[in-house]
Amino acid sequence: MRFIPLGKGHLRACSAFVWAFSIAAALTACGGGGGDADPAKLPGGVSSGPALSAMAQLGQKVFNDPSLSASGRQSCASCHDAATAHAQPNALAAQLGGSMLDQQGSRLSPSIRYLASNKAFSFTADGTPNGGFFWDGRASSLQEQAGQPFLNPVEMANGSKDEVIRRLAAASYAEEFRKLFGDNIMGDAEAAFQRLTLALQQYQLEDSAFRPFSSKYDAFLLGKIPRLNDQEIRGLALYNNPVKGRCFACHPSARGSDGRLPLFTDFTYDSLGVPRNGELRQNDDPNFYDLGLCGRDDLKDRTGLCGKFKVPSLRNVALRHAFFHNGKFKTLKDVVTFYVQRDTNPEKWYPQNADGTYDKFNDLPSAYRGNVNVLEGPYNRQPGQEPALSDAEVDDVIAFLQTLTDGYQP
Ligand code: HEC
Ligand code: HEC
Repeated sequence: MRFIPLGKGHLRACSAFVWAFSIAAALTACGGGGGDADPAKLPGGVSSGPALSAMAQLGQKVFNDPSLSASGRQSCASCHDAATAHAQPNALAAQLGGSMLDQQGSRLSPSIRYLASNKAFSFTADGTPNGGFFWDGRASSLQEQAGQPFLNPVEMANGSKDEVIRRLAAASYAEEFRKLFGDNIMGDAEAAFQRLTLALQQYQLEDSAFRPFSSKYDAFLLGKIPRLNDQEIRGLALYNNPVKGRCFACHPSARGSDGRLPLFTDFTYDSLGVPRNGELRQNDDPNFYDLGLCGRDDLKDRTGLCGKFKVPSLRNVALRHAFFHNGKFKTLKDVVTFYVQRDTNPEKWYPQNADGTYDKFNDLPSAYRGNVNVLEGPYNRQPGQEPALSDAEVDDVIAFLQTLTDGYQP
């Protein structure tokens, strides 16, 4: 996250003062009364009509087509399932891919909703890493991202772009592809691959299924329902309270000053010290570490960035079956409890060393453990102190997170 100066910056953000004043009054001021806006037009700035363009329709077919993989059994939708808000459908730490579907990937498949307004990776003026696609931001656009799964040996596992285009030429919609991009397009694998990934990007930008803004919380913010229930309101207040959950600091929950609905990510990066996950085969090698940002070739000398991963949106998070870049946790209860008890109760999360201490932040080499955020709430406590949230308060925050699931019917 960015350091928000306490005081002015905080008080301007509507969500931040919810905790301080009468909850009901503050929520009316922040949330209700904005029923005028068309949510689909707001955050991405991309407005979709009911019909997709020809290119987006083609992208939709590609997205769902397993015949473009070496196994013949894997498509984008296999790992980004609409039923789980376009995240992976199961609780595995990483999905299986490759030509026999027996190769384990290296990271959790994230939800790919609400990415339309995300930008290429960059550093802001104060040096904060920001934007980019993938957990480490290495792809600069949805189009660049879309090229990688086809060729990734542990995903769709084509040997080359030529191989992808040979499969494309045999697909049921190959004729549509030619009609749109020219009769000879398949003869130039490089150009055809570029169009293929452009169509995938166009589909994700146009189809409102990738940004329905139809959760209970959206209904509340748009004034379609008068209030959340008591537990959800308590959860929201804890989420926004700078000395309790403080979740809003990286996962913003308030509408923008221009009325845009919140995306629950600020597209920055942080190092949380998530415990190592033995379920990932790559971790059988004790010298292997997934370093996040500094694992990228272009950032390998920036050791201060080691261990940092992208802040994911929390929209639809209650539909997921595994959490964090390495899929270590399988329930929201464990995730939120980890946040507040990581430092008060390290024995719950990390293995014990021979000397009786706990091997905190064991998914990073010791040289980079100092990068883990220990200064900001909710993880700025010491053993013996009270966690920032009690067990009942953790449940309240989870009740609030459950209001972020799309498809709410009042
Ligand atoms: C075998 C599973 C698998 C398949 C198949 C797959 N993905 Fe993914 N996807 C992932 C994983 C894992 C990540 C995160 C990888 C990383 O961060 O290094 C990801 C990341 C993404 C992201 C970036 C999300 C973000 O928040 O930055 C997008 C967009 C995406 N995939 C779209 C696609 C498209 C389009 C296809 C089809 C061409 C596809 N994926 C095929 C597993 C898969
Ligand atoms: C300082 C920034 C920061 C704060 C504060 C923060 N988060 Fe996060 N959150 C992150 C980052 C970064 C990740 C991804 C970490 C990773 O995968 O290694 C994440 C991941 C998550 C995930 C997993 C989502 C997924 O799809 O895997 C959940 C759930 C979550 N946060 C909830 C919360 C809650 C609840 C709070 C408040 C108690 C909170 N976060 C506070 C930065 C933050």
